[in-house]
Amino acid sequence: MGHWRNMILVVIVSMAILHLSHAHNKELPPKKLPPKERANKEQNDYVDMHNCIRKALGLPPLCWDNKVAKRAKAWSNKLKNCQLVHSEGGGENLAMGPNLTALWAVQLWLDERKNYDICKNQCTGACGHYTQVVWKNTKHLGCARVKCDAPYEGYYAVVCNYDPPGNYIGERPY
Ligand SMILES: *[C@@H]1O[C@H](CO)[C@@H](O)[C@H](O)[C@H]1NC(C)=O
Repeated sequence: MGHWRNMILVVIVSMAILHLSHAHNKELPPKKLPPKERANKEQNDYVDMHNCIRKALGLPPLCWDNKVAKRAKAWSNKLKNCQLVHSEGGGENLAMGPNLTALWAVQLWLDERKNYDICKNQCTGACGHYTQVVWKNTKHLGCARVKCDAPYEGYYAVVCNYDPPGNYIGERPY
């Protein structure tokens, strides 16, 4: 039963991703968009990717918050060396990779779902990024992406900050 639940969820998430990429195909290539529209599209990508899985789990959606996004932006500027170090505020997910987009950064975090045992509330390996994405009491989200400097040409670092923060030890995400 649990297995089927997982399978169904994977399908839902994959369909959402297909849907998102399909939607993208109809738009101009991202590089041709004016900077403001490009930023709006990237913002929607972060929000949609978080809320797709949250909706599937029956959790309230996250809303973009400019103050939280400002914090993410400030910290992203310190990650241009592509070394993923956390800021001190908590409620923060980081990712980096070649040509990393908003969509794929959140997908990397969602992939940790397979490491999370909801019955035991335990991780096998990493799953803290995933549990933050699906933390029920988190309400606001703000993210930023930065191009890394040499020798990481073509790599990007992504920061998402969450308010209120999740991942309290001993508590369940939902
Ligand atoms: C990023 O994508 C471009 C175009 O597909 C590719 O040529 C390039 O090698 C990629 N960069 C990295 C760092 O993988």
